[in-house]
Amino acid sequence: MSKIVPATEERICEAASLIRSGNLVAFPTETVYGLGANAFDEQAVRKIYVAKGRPSNNPLIVHIPTIDQVDSVADLSDPSLAKRLQKLSHLWPGPLSVVLPKGPKVAPSACANLPSVAVRIPNHPVALRLLTLCECPIAAPSANPANYISPTTAAHVADQLSEQVSLILDGGACKVGLESTIVSLIGPYPQLLRPGWVSFETLREFLPDLRNYSAPHDSAAPIAPGMLKEHYAPQTRLIMRTEFEPHAHLNQNIGLISFSALKENEHPFAKSVVLSQNNNLEEVAESLFAALRELDKNGLDLIVVDTCPAQGLGAAIMDKILRATARNRN
Ligand code: TXA
Ligand code: MG
Repeated sequence: MSKIVPATEERICEAASLIRSGNLVAFPTETVYGLGANAFDEQAVRKIYVAKGRPSNNPLIVHIPTIDQVDSVADLSDPSLAKRLQKLSHLWPGPLSVVLPKGPKVAPSACANLPSVAVRIPNHPVALRLLTLCECPIAAPSANPANYISPTTAAHVADQLSEQVSLILDGGACKVGLESTIVSLIGPYPQLLRPGWVSFETLREFLPDLRNYSAPHDSAAPIAPGMLKEHYAPQTRLIMRTEFEPHAHLNQNIGLISFSALKENEHPFAKSVVLSQNNNLEEVAESLFAALRELDKNGLDLIVVDTCPAQGLGAAIMDKILRATARNRN
């Protein structure tokens, strides 16, 4: 029986009581679907790692419904840190997670035993209602098996984790489509740990001394724990359009993910998904993961994906593409 239910008030109430009693619920956010458990319940949080096959050293994101609840999950006693958070809080609710010193009530597993916690207020009515009704913060990574593409619809979650969850709240397709931007406020200067929809350029307006994130091939770069070089990869071989040499793939079934309308003299791809007619990066971000999943089901020999300049939202899109193609580059 399908565990997908429409996100009505009644079903959200049911999901909230499932969370309160230590179960796992998948729910929509504006970024991707999350696999949630009560962040104060160590046993419940451990179920997330088992369900995803996630290494125990890869911490989760703790979701709260309002800014005044940050101090229930984080220690804000350092005034300069509180001041920085205050500035960033203009971007909440939204696709931004902030790493802060961990508060004592958060289950150690939610933070992979680190002294810090990633906190986010999602900008999605279903997620916010669920967080309000369950009266506890929800620890949630993306609702996909470890190292696969994040889910942006309830059906994506059901495809792979149906057995592992009690309920999947269906709130439609996620609008942002990429995981949240992560910023750490721990240490001598703020550091971007993961690029996302909220760009480095935007964050700099709030935190002028913010250090940028370096691409995953730079081994000296500070990256968030658990953000391995290879990540989000489809099963099918994936390469960037800039590296595609048609003559090297004669007689193969090749799929294309295009960021703009197809041209008349286009290579004859077996299947193509056009994410935007005119390189609109918000449209590309919204549907990139769904396109990777869709083409991955087609038994293709190869998927070719467009690229874009790594600025603004393009930095997050290219980070995902660099990761997903990593195993196919030198
Ligand atoms: O948009 C999102 O971020 C979604 C939705 C559900 O909120 N969540 C999500 O979680 O995509 P996911 O699977 O990316 O896992 C959380 C990541 C970890 O892999 C790690 O990189 C980072 O957040 N993280 C969590 N706690 C951290 C900490 N204390 N310090 C540094 N990074 C942390
Ligand atoms: Mg994830």
